[in-house]
Amino acid sequence: MNVEFYEKIWMWAAAALLAAFLGTIVLMAGVEAVQPPGHIETVDPTTLSSHPEFGKPAVVVAPDGSAMVSVVTSMFEFTPNPIRVPANRPVTFRLTSSDVIHGFEVAGTNANAMAVPGYVTQFTLTFGEPGEHVIACNEYCGLQHHAMVGKLIVTREAR
Ligand code: CUA
Repeated sequence: MNVEFYEKIWMWAAAALLAAFLGTIVLMAGVEAVQPPGHIETVDPTTLSSHPEFGKPAVVVAPDGSAMVSVVTSMFEFTPNPIRVPANRPVTFRLTSSDVIHGFEVAGTNANAMAVPGYVTQFTLTFGEPGEHVIACNEYCGLQHHAMVGKLIVTREAR
């Protein structure tokens, strides 16, 4: 089979691009710990207000200093707000939504997840430095989407 010279160049260029894109995914998964979600848990979005956890979403700090943060997103706010978590301790976020899909991006960190009605999104991360971060909704959710912001305050760990 005879393949034209320029055809070959384009075939190799396309193959190289594919390899580069796939390599980027593998590299990010390994180096930056970027992972697809691996946790499926459902919750009834119509009865959230009487749910034992999401009825009163809050930060619960365990005796070992780690924290569990339950968050309900709704048009157009995050509850609780602000969210206070300790530095240098594992913080597990559990998100859900009472209406439509919202985003939960903690600016300046790699926390970036979707809050989906009917599901609990869970992820854990550790904040190294005390400080304040903006929480932004990055899924278009309605007319006030741009105003849906919250605050995450990372406090010095309790000793
Ligand atoms: Cu909530 Cu956009």
